[in-house]
Amino acid sequence: MNIEQRVTELHQLLHQYNYEYHVQDNPSVPDSEYDKLLHELIDIEREHPELKTDDSPTVRVGGTPVSAFEKVDHDTPMLSLGNAFSEEDLLAFDKRVKDEVGEVEYMVELKIDGLAVSLKYVDGVFVQGLTRGDGTTGENITQNLKTIHAIPLTLSVPLTFEVRGEAYMPRKSFLALNAYREKVGEQLAANPRNAAAGSLRQLDSKLTAKRKLDIFLYSVNDLRELDAQSQSEALDKLDEIGFKTNHERKLCRNMKEVFEYIKYWTEARNDLAYDIDGIVIKVNDLSKQDELGFTAKSPKWAIAYKFPA
Ligand code: IVH
Repeated sequence: MNIEQRVTELHQLLHQYNYEYHVQDNPSVPDSEYDKLLHELIDIEREHPELKTDDSPTVRVGGTPVSAFEKVDHDTPMLSLGNAFSEEDLLAFDKRVKDEVGEVEYMVELKIDGLAVSLKYVDGVFVQGLTRGDGTTGENITQNLKTIHAIPLTLSVPLTFEVRGEAYMPRKSFLALNAYREKVGEQLAANPRNAAAGSLRQLDSKLTAKRKLDIFLYSVNDLRELDAQSQSEALDKLDEIGFKTNHERKLCRNMKEVFEYIKYWTEARNDLAYDIDGIVIKVNDLSKQDELGFTAKSPKWAIAYKFPA
């Protein structure tokens, strides 16, 4: 085997082991095996810099610091959701939806308490990651996002599209960060959300890499790109092609089921490995989503129920 072939093989193995560990949560090899192969690749790239590519598994450790983040316009704006604080608010939403498009099913999902990001793939390669910014223009934080192991650097299918989701700091990473800060006498981070925001804003991606962030993807700018007819199909397809979605989602046939889901998670939220600040309710059928459309700021086909503070 020549060196190019070995590099290809190392990419494949490391991508596979990374996926098993960070997306499937089901590793097939011990960490030491991953580390050994990674260091073999790091050594080869040091000797042969021409063999280092932008989607090499070695980019996960971070790269050269930048002096500022480039501002980039979103292809389609990143909107936010209208809020609901009570069952009455949700029933009013349900009525508005049904008056417009008739009976619907709802996909209900956990509202992850992190930062919205947008990931662009060209021919199945992750090329650009942006913050939400003001919704129209975001900041290019591609290098920092590449340190999140759950973000695929390449996909099993050569899709060109934008995937959106929530980057967050797991509670375990947050506790480790604050334990470290306490030890060295630095000011503690207030909560995982702030810590995640600070980590993604690091100009040195090697620092971001140390923070052990994670992500759940929940939408695609054009869902038909995935050949999906509904939000639930879209999430299943995202899973299939290598993204990490949140599996606590549920398809609800009526508001009673939505309320049960909310009640369950209001009580169980502290058992999760990450913070959530509410529940998102989405009309499942994509053609009905289209019919409902958007206000200036948010989709009419979805709403965020916020947990009481
Ligand atoms: S859907 C048009 N689903 O909540 C925006 N958002 O304002 C569609 N979030 O900006 C967003 N978990 O940062 C959606 N499962 C989820 C979410 C989620 C967290 C965040 C997202 C969004 C904010 C709502």
